Amino acid sequence: MKSKYSKILITGASTGIGRQLALDYGKDGSTIWLLARSESKLLELANEIETSGGTAKVLACDATIEKDLLASLTIAQEESGGLDLVIANAGWGGKMKYPGEKNIEVLNQVIDLNLKAAAQTLEFFAKHMVVARQGHLVGVSSVAGFKGAPGSAAYSATKAALMTYLESLRFSVSPFGVKVTDIRPGFVRTPLTKNNKVPMPFLMDADLASQKIRRAIERGSKRFTFPWQMALTTHLIKAMPDFLYDWVAGLSFGKMAVSGRAGKSEENTVSG
Ligand SMILES: NC(=O)c1ccc[n+]([C@@H]2O[C@H](COP(=O)([O-])OP(=O)(O)OC[C@H]3O[C@@H](n4cnc5c(N)ncnc54)[C@H](OP(=O)(O)O)[C@@H]3O)[C@@H](O)[C@H]2O)c1
Repeated sequence: MKSKYSKILITGASTGIGRQLALDYGKDGSTIWLLARSESKLLELANEIETSGGTAKVLACDATIEKDLLASLTIAQEESGGLDLVIANAGWGGKMKYPGEKNIEVLNQVIDLNLKAAAQTLEFFAKHMVVARQGHLVGVSSVAGFKGAPGSAAYSATKAALMTYLESLRFSVSPFGVKVTDIRPGFVRTPLTKNNKVPMPFLMDADLASQKIRRAIERGSKRFTFPWQMALTTHLIKAMPDFLYDWVAGLSFGKMAVSGRAGKSEENTVSG
């Protein structure tokens, strides 16, 4: 499937889903602005993209530092003369531990990256796209945003907020011809899930996830939950009465996550 997008910005491009998306769009000959903190990883990725026929520009910055983020986004806007696809993908699991010394620090970091930086990125380009009357804005939320996932209070809350933000943004910008897509992955094998000790049903590799995400973006889906088994499961969970969800969540992994047996809770692990 060759992409119709030729000028693309991806945040969180140095590893995992973002990296795979960048590689795949690169093979289509697109120009991709790669944003993440790790300059060495981005330079390596840029080389791979250039070798496979694409063009890559490196924007090494911490997306949670607003002035650095806006400076990087400004460079991408000026160099591209207007992007046609922006994927706000950078995210962090930030599992919280009880009792835990670092929960407030983790909470702030997760909100700053998963919600603030994602929304700031999309707002920055929304401003330009509505004037140009074209463009596509994509946010990567998670199935963890549908309900409060055990052990992931900050993560679940930010993903739920991002889903709501994307839905609202879509109503505002679609009259100007700008599309908005909310990508809601289930479990994908990436550095984010590497140390997860909780069950990860329907876990898939990043290359398959990238294929599915790209297809949803190309067809202009408003929201896309995958894999389908996870989409079905989340619909069933959402339809459950609260008492049943409490029981199921506690039964499957709630106790492990709360007690910290689910892994080193203050590391970058996440439950979906
Ligand atoms: N994997 C899953 O199962 C899963 C499921 C549902 C949703 N998601 C979502 O999918 C997205 C990608 O996750 P992933 O699994 O691919 O994780 P990942 O491999 O850990 O990638 C996270 C990316 O975000 C970047 N990042 C982290 N902190 C940053 C910061 N402060 N400033 C700029 N970039 C930063 C990382 O690069 P640097 O460290 O170089 O900055 C990396 O490129 C996330 O939003 C995640 O919540 C993943």
